[in-house]
Amino acid sequence: MRGYDFNFILQGICVFILVASIAAKLPSDIKPCAAGDGKCIIENINKVFAEKNQGDESFGLTKLEPFKMDDIIIKQDPANPVAIYLGLLRPVVYGVKNVRALKVKGFGKTPEGRHEILLETPYLSLLSDYKIDGKVLILPVKGEGKSNITLVQPLIKISIDATSRNENGNTFMDIKSLRVECKPKRLAMQFDNLFNGDKVLGENVNSFLNDNWKEIYGEVKIPFYEAIGKQMKVGAEKVFSATPYNEIFVI
Ligand SMILES: *[C@@H]1O[C@H](CO)[C@@H](O)[C@H](O)[C@H]1NC(C)=O
Repeated sequence: MRGYDFNFILQGICVFILVASIAAKLPSDIKPCAAGDGKCIIENINKVFAEKNQGDESFGLTKLEPFKMDDIIIKQDPANPVAIYLGLLRPVVYGVKNVRALKVKGFGKTPEGRHEILLETPYLSLLSDYKIDGKVLILPVKGEGKSNITLVQPLIKISIDATSRNENGNTFMDIKSLRVECKPKRLAMQFDNLFNGDKVLGENVNSFLNDNWKEIYGEVKIPFYEAIGKQMKVGAEKVFSATPYNEIFVI
């Protein structure tokens, strides 16, 4: 019994050492770009969204389409024009596969500093089980069911602040903060089963919400940015902690 335990522990240690010392590389169909080469970096980002959106554990890439998120809970102050509790449970985002990069700044010879990526996509649909209760511009809104919150033609700006870390001769990017801003052409919302399934009331309130999307978006975008930014940071950290910066870029 003792021998067995010891063997087991030894095996565990060996596996741990093996895993810890193998730094990931980009898959062979993605060529590392020269550091700071914006055009090449844009092409690689686009390739990842178009061709690797099912994820690729070999370099730490999470599944992107659909993109699973943690629950989003928005609690607005009752003094706010949009004074709601909105819970979006088990949210899943569709449309990430169509995301394309327009502009890239940073990603130079060192991972240290500010990096920016500007992205666009035809739509991003956040599907979830929702719970809403409160007032939107004086209109009471209450319900529970399935929701579809779609950003139509969003422009998405991602800003990353990072530091550099050296480990076993490799350089890694440590992401300190990742912030998201998003400008959609329109916000399309559908909350099924509002007011216990009252059809007329539900349809009227959905139309009201869509007619007033600009005001609503203005009021809830900050907590949304925070939720999405947090999730993107987890995904980006997975890639940049598995794959050395010097494997992603020629530095
Ligand atoms: C979500 O809403 C968008 C915009 O109205 C629509 O195009 C899309 O088909 C909807 N998705 C689902 C799964 O209902």
